[in-house]
This record gives sequence, C-alpha cells and structure tokens, in this order.
Amino acid sequence: MREFSEENLTEAVVERFANTPDPRLKQLVSSLVRHLHAYVREVEPTFDEWMGAINFLTRTGQTCTDKRQEFILLADTLGISMLVDAINHRGREGVTETTVLGPFYVENPPEMPLGSNVTGGLKGDPLYAEGVVRGPGGEPLANAIVDVWQSDADGFYDVQYADRTEAGLRARLRTDADGRFYFWSVMPTSYPIPYDGPVGDMLKATKRHPYRPAHLHFMIAAEGHETLITHLFVDGDVYLDSDAVFGVKKSLIRTYIKQEPGLAPDGHKMPGAWYRLANDFRLKLAAPVHARTGAM
Ligand SMILES: [Fe+2]
Repeated sequence: MREFSEENLTEAVVERFANTPDPRLKQLVSSLVRHLHAYVREVEPTFDEWMGAINFLTRTGQTCTDKRQEFILLADTLGISMLVDAINHRGREGVTETTVLGPFYVENPPEMPLGSNVTGGLKGDPLYAEGVVRGPGGEPLANAIVDVWQSDADGFYDVQYADRTEAGLRARLRTDADGRFYFWSVMPTSYPIPYDGPVGDMLKATKRHPYRPAHLHFMIAAEGHETLITHLFVDGDVYLDSDAVFGVKKSLIRTYIKQEPGLAPDGHKMPGAWYRLANDFRLKLAAPVHARTGAM
C-alpha cells in the first residue's frame, strides 16, 4: 500500500509491526496504535492541540529528576497506576491489599535497627508504629525487609526539601524472629502532590485538587512471598474520598490512636501527647516460577 487515508492508516501502521518477533511486544505496540488512533478519531485534535500534547509530554519528561518522577505522577493522577495495580493484584482475599508506590520512594533507604527514630529531624507529632509481618496463614515472617516512608507535619517528603541531602522519614527495617517491626516516627499529614509542573497544570486546568489523605507508605519483602506495596491511611482525613491519585482502599484505613503523656511501649517517657499505630501485614505467597508471565 502506497497511499494512506484516514480510513486505512491505522491498519497500515499495525501491519508495519507485523514482524515483531516477541509476541507480547507485538500486542503492546499494535494495541497502542489502535487505541491512540481511536482517541485521535474521537477528539479530532487541531494542530495546536497536537502540539500542546507534545509539549505537555516533553515537559513531563523534562520535569523528571532522580528525585522527582513526573510520569509516575501523571499515571497516578490519570488512575492508570491504580488500574495496573488492580489488574496485577486480583485475588488477594485474606492478605493485605496493595496501593500505589507513589513518586517518593527512594531505592535503598537507610537501614536502621528496630525501635529507631526514622524522622531524620523532620517534624511532627510523635508516632509509635508497630506490627507483625505475616504470611497468608498468619505465620510470622522473620527477617522480612520493611521499607517505610512518609510526609512530615508540613506535608513534605525529605526529597522535596531542596537544601537537604540526607534521608528523613524513610528507613529500612528488618523484622525480628517473631516477625515484629517497630519504630518511632511522626504523624503523617495530608499533602498536595507536587503541582508546580505539567501534572499540576493539568489539575488546575480541570479544577481538580492535588491532595492525598495522610498515610504511611510500606514496601515489605519476605523470602517466598510477593513484595507488598501499600499505605496505611489515617482515619478521619478529609481527603479519603477524593485522593488525587485514587489510592484509597477501605481495608487500608487505620485509627492512629492518640495517647496521653506517659510511658511508651518501649519505655520511652513521652512528655506530651503522642500517637500509636498497630498493624499486622499479611503477604501473599509468591507465584511459582512457571506460573509467572513473561513480562519484558
Ligand atoms: Fe505518599
């Protein structure tokens, strides 16, 4: 075929990928072409709008740094991240539900002993968090890796402070022989996702607010189990029903219980009010190797 028309162009482009050796890659690119063409046929963009889309995606890439992932933010705010999460985490009865990774996870957080204060000097009301990492049958999992990260009282993650290079409010802990973990932190607060970039422009233009309800992030890895990526949301937060990234699940909302001044469970003397969070996680068994799909 030499001449392409509005009618035959889509199939011509799909056909151009016909010799793709990897069948999954072939499916991914062919379907992408069909869906993008269908979108263009539906909205019939002007050249200005086409260039606007190019500029938006260009700026989204240019806004990414080693500490800011604007494309994850875009996927999050379009509900794509939660859709991918839902598709890949079907059948989780009896184990802890998952939610988005979010844009603020930093690989290899500082390892700290159990009971550490993970704040790195960032501020907030004291919080003592504790729990047990368990398998699907409730059996405690020793030596599980528990990564935690969160915002401070002002709603910022450490990486959002331009003048700061050291980690704060993020740590890697390992469960003890009984599967237990515990650490000192601060109460998380609801916060706006970064909205000074192209994703923020999208939210403003569409009259959407950028807020996420307060939460702690957890990524928990244990031998023979699927790595769990989840949050624990603070009950009562005003944004629980309108999370900017659609990440809330009812089963992940917890009461962070306010405590009077006095002795904390680890013997710390608390002169003022503090909070306590107790939560056990249940991890799913890893799928047998032969049952895993051959992702690229
Ligand atoms: Fe977060």
